Parts: sequence; C-alpha cells; structure tokens
Amino acid sequence: MAIVTFHPSGKTIEVEHGTLLFDAALRAGLPVASSCSAAFVCCRCNMQILQGADQLSTQRDPERTLLKRDKKDLTDRVSCVVRVYGDCTVTTSYW
Ligand code: FES
Repeated sequence: MAIVTFHPSGKTIEVEHGTLLFDAALRAGLPVASSCSAAFVCCRCNMQILQGADQLSTQRDPERTLLKRDKKDLTDRVSCVVRVYGDCTVTTSYW
C-alpha cells in the first residue's frame, strides 16, 4: 500500500501499489481535469510531484512528448498514466 497526499488540501488516501495517480485523486474526492476521459490524449490531468517522485512509475517518451506538446514542465506527470508504488505528495494548478 502507498499513501498519496494532495497539496494544498492535505487530503490523503491509501492506495494499492500500481494505482493510477489519476484514480487516486478521484478516490480522494478531488477533481482531475480531463477532456479525454483518461485516454492519455489531452494532457490536462498533469500534476506536479512535490515529494516521492521516485515512488512513481518511470516517465517514458510518450509522456514527455505529450508534456512538450502542451508546453508543460517536463517534471510534471500525466496522472492518467502514472502509477503509484510508494508514498508521494502531489499538487496541480487548480487545487
Ligand atoms: S486525462 Fe487526458 S491525458 Fe490524462
């Protein structure tokens, strides 16, 4: 199990290893921006990782390509393809 903390609300949720970050946020009751229903197309679900970046699945070329296309910071993560494997703290611009 892993604990995801959402900043600035301080909400936390315990999730199974391998849970999508997108799903963790929804389960915690937080809104996640999306216009592609988590199909890894829109890049609106990007989040910033404040702690525990090494506890998430590795960023691969398609994710970097999507972030670049949308002029997002390459340290952001596209939450609908990122899996949680340990404790982390995340935020996004609209929380
Ligand atoms: S919800 Fe569209 S890319 Fe993640």
